[in-house]
Amino acid sequence: MTAYWKVSPEQPQPESLAEAAQTLKQGGLVAFPTETVYGLGADARQTRAVEQIFKAKGRPSDNPLIVHIADRSQVEALAASPDEAVSRLLDAFWPGPLTVVLPVRPGVLSPLVTAGLDSVGLRMPDHPVALQLIAAAGCPVAAPSANRSGRPSPTQAQHVLEDLAGRIDGIVDGGPTGVGVESTVVEYTPAAGEAGGGVLHILRPGGITAAQLREALPGITVREASAHQEPSAAPRAPGMKYTHYAPRGVMTLVQGDAPERVLARIQRELDEAHARGERTGVLTYREHAPLLRADHIVACGSVGDLESLAHGLYAALREFDEAGIHFIMGETCPEEGIGAAIMNRLRKAAGDRIIHV
Ligand code: TXA
Ligand code: MG
Repeated sequence: MTAYWKVSPEQPQPESLAEAAQTLKQGGLVAFPTETVYGLGADARQTRAVEQIFKAKGRPSDNPLIVHIADRSQVEALAASPDEAVSRLLDAFWPGPLTVVLPVRPGVLSPLVTAGLDSVGLRMPDHPVALQLIAAAGCPVAAPSANRSGRPSPTQAQHVLEDLAGRIDGIVDGGPTGVGVESTVVEYTPAAGEAGGGVLHILRPGGITAAQLREALPGITVREASAHQEPSAAPRAPGMKYTHYAPRGVMTLVQGDAPERVLARIQRELDEAHARGERTGVLTYREHAPLLRADHIVACGSVGDLESLAHGLYAALREFDEAGIHFIMGETCPEEGIGAAIMNRLRKAAGDRIIHV
């Protein structure tokens, strides 16, 4: 049985979160909203509880979990003191969609959380429900996105229930999430010796953009996760190597500078699939939706408004599954600002199938 608690997203009443917090304390699994996506939480110190996260999600055990805290002072208890550069990031972006990877303090977390690494990803989410729940539970909360492994991340309580009802102890419904894509995961490498600044590696693009990070860290090199990682290179954020965020159908993206060419090619592919007897779907911008013909048209975001696209992306991908669509064509977006995170997710959802026109 999965308990369900509906709370006000802006002003959750402490009573409404008491049972959920108690469930976490007792080693249970509770899904909760953050500003990015819903997380599936457990007490990060209890190995039995953390084990259940991997089981409920069907998640590979070599993929570490982000640990969520409600107060900056918890950082020192869990990890080595952050470098000055990392402290500046926390000042600038916490609470918010930024996860910092730091050397973990031995013995304070279940070893399952870090998947055997000597580092831990820490994040203070910018959501009143998440912050109050973590504070009331009184423990660091390990929380991956609350989807079955490989499925699009949940941005509404309903998505969590679709994937995990009956597999988890409870869900706190605080309405739809805001940002819509996950946090940016970063790791800082200090400069060797005296000369020059260090390097901040973006291990996973997300809600905080590279430009925002550069602005907060003058003199420090911010290195973006390469879109096409060498297959042999060991991924630094282990989760990035798995197929992710994918609808059940097969999706192909069409990318090009001229929207008319992109739309024409998408339509041609849709028409050919239709002629073969397939049920077809298309992921497109609101403005382009009236220009396309398919069995299922999903309009997501407006041209030029990347935030609106990020916000609706995962719900859009899930729509194709609900409609039982197996052949999906999709548009792309510019890789600037939060577009880097969107394209990272879209590429994975499409298994890197991209037609350039
Ligand atoms: O916005 C978010 O980050 C959401 C919400 C719930 O907070 N959480 C989330 O967790 O996206 P998850 O488990 O779906 O993704 C965590 C990512 C994975 O790519 C994982 O490999 C990476 O963070 N990660 C976690 N700990 C790490 C570590 N110590 N070193 C490198 N990468 C790490
Ligand atoms: Mg995830």
